[in-house]
Amino acid sequence: MTRATARSKHPHRSLLAGCLALAALGSAEIASAQPAGFFTDRQASQGQGAYRGNCAPCHGDAVIESLAAWTGGVDTFYGFISSAMPQDAPGSLPPATYVSILAYLLREVGAPAGTTELTSDPEALRAISLTPAPP
Ligand code: HEC
Repeated sequence: MTRATARSKHPHRSLLAGCLALAALGSAEIASAQPAGFFTDRQASQGQGAYRGNCAPCHGDAVIESLAAWTGGVDTFYGFISSAMPQDAPGSLPPATYVSILAYLLREVGAPAGTTELTSDPEALRAISLTPAPP
């Protein structure tokens, strides 16, 4: 009997393997000295849904690694995703959706949720530090 358990969760992932593998080599963690709470849990959960609908079809879960490995600030990461992604319709999502997706990704890399919503304010985004994890 053949069961359909071998379905691929990430059908397009192989197309991206080249550039994503590079990004997955690094890792980072949120600086522990940083005060908690630059996004809310609710916002991150909304972002999870938006990520599934708008990003996962091409990336699977890989953008979590991309954020962990990002060498620039969170403001430049936001700038990139909100202007260049989704790759087939760059900049097409409302700012609040990009922000919630970022909140989701931050939660996935270990940043603690709080009571204040994340915004697209570049100053606030720049204040979030992604520090490289010790080797
Ligand atoms: C239609 C397919 C497609 C969709 C949908 C898409 N991307 Fe991408 N993405 C790509 C491709 C192809 C690249 C690599 C080329 C480039 O950098 O433009 C990429 C690159 C990236 C990168 C930089 C490379 C890396 O992995 O570090 C990030 C970050 C990223 N995408 C995030 C997102 C986010 C967030 C969304 C959802 C809002 C999204 N992408 C939706 C195809 C897609």
